[in-house]
Amino acid sequence: MPLPHDFVFGTSTASYQVEGGVAAGGRGRSIWDDFCDRSGAIADGSSGAVACDSYHRWDEDVALVRDLGTDAYRFSIAWPRIQPTGAGPANPQGLDFYDRAVDALCEAGVAPFVTLYHWDLPAALQARGGWMVRETAERFGDYAGLVAERLADRVAMWLPVNEPVVATLFGHAIGVHAPGESRGFEALAAAHHLLLGHGLATRALRAAGAAAVGTANNHTPVHAVSDADGDVAAAALYDTIHNRAFAEPILLGEYPNGMGDGMPGPVAEDLAVISEPLDAYGVNYYNPTLVGMPGSPGTEAARDAVPDQQVQLTVPEGIPFDLVPVPAGEYTAFGWPVAPEGLTEVLVQLRDRYGDRLPPVHVTESGCSTHDVVEDGTVHDDARIRYLDQHLDAVADAIDVGVDVRGYFVWSLLDNFEWAEGYTQRFGLVRVGADQERTPKDSYAWLRDRILAVRASG
Ligand code: BGC
Repeated sequence: MPLPHDFVFGTSTASYQVEGGVAAGGRGRSIWDDFCDRSGAIADGSSGAVACDSYHRWDEDVALVRDLGTDAYRFSIAWPRIQPTGAGPANPQGLDFYDRAVDALCEAGVAPFVTLYHWDLPAALQARGGWMVRETAERFGDYAGLVAERLADRVAMWLPVNEPVVATLFGHAIGVHAPGESRGFEALAAAHHLLLGHGLATRALRAAGAAAVGTANNHTPVHAVSDADGDVAAAALYDTIHNRAFAEPILLGEYPNGMGDGMPGPVAEDLAVISEPLDAYGVNYYNPTLVGMPGSPGTEAARDAVPDQQVQLTVPEGIPFDLVPVPAGEYTAFGWPVAPEGLTEVLVQLRDRYGDRLPPVHVTESGCSTHDVVEDGTVHDDARIRYLDQHLDAVADAIDVGVDVRGYFVWSLLDNFEWAEGYTQRFGLVRVGADQERTPKDSYAWLRDRILAVRASG
């Protein structure tokens, strides 16, 4: 079945990954500035200090978004540009920058989808405990109010927190992302505060007249490596931690499997804030996850089956589940399995689990890194074209069986700073060279044509 002719197409980026300009416009330091200074933290020793220099090249990027024919652009606001220390009045230069950024998009006929937190916490708040303490959630609500007061009249969709699961697991449980803490299960306090921050921000956005508020959660279909009870239980635990622990507080107002008992603060009251009704639910999807019990025969066999592939998360010893590589016909440059059917599965599963508690869905991130080579002045990224084609079909399959999916945002518009991988993984529809020159890849032209075809079908 083809996609509906009014389907929303967009691209996604995040402030620290593209903006650069870290010392410009009165911006304060973020936890990512600090993390990148740590020796060995980033694969190529780089940082987002310059990145794609989008802070100075915003209009150029908007022209790319416009010429691609997309309806929407999802970008994030750097909290330390608005509040350099994470508290107090807004920095006027920060607000002015995003005010112009939003105007430029509106003038180009592109709807702004705004994330308020894509992981660049003001370093001053980290010094006070970061997401491990409740105060950060409260400050986040204040910050959301400051931004909304200025931009709510033009922003089409707000997505307060990007992927609280990744911020929790990578940033606070295993420490491969900022702030680089390895707290294991204790990191769940950060999860609760990120969710509370989402809820407080949602209230502040509504109070300022926001047109629509959603969220952007990372989802993965979780499969057990075998039918053995231990492997099935390990998979269920991972599914709870990765998917349900973040979806259910927001959509149902409760934590799964009694998890709320271990959370800090007045959890029942907080859940009422966290579950403010939303206008949209954003799904960021990259790949499925295969899980077994550590050391079980199924886990060992699954690991041996695909020896050269990496998993996204390396699980520390002592944790009662293990992640193993997923067999696939194709892998991205990152080594992630290409599994478009997993996107259909995630979308259908959300509908089946949450029924009419699930608002209309947008796929707020989907994309792959590729081994790009510049040839004839461009990049023939056939692997990305295949990837996008298959994932758009996967969305159409979900719509076909009745899931209300309204949009798809490619990660990413530009090659950018890929967190702990630095600039070694290229996710862009547009190549960004060392000289900052933007070169649309073959996938850019392909997507433009695909969008035109969908529009023409209506
Ligand atoms: C994040 C992006 C990141 C992408 C690819 C998502 O989890 O939101 O910032 O670049 O995955 O790793």
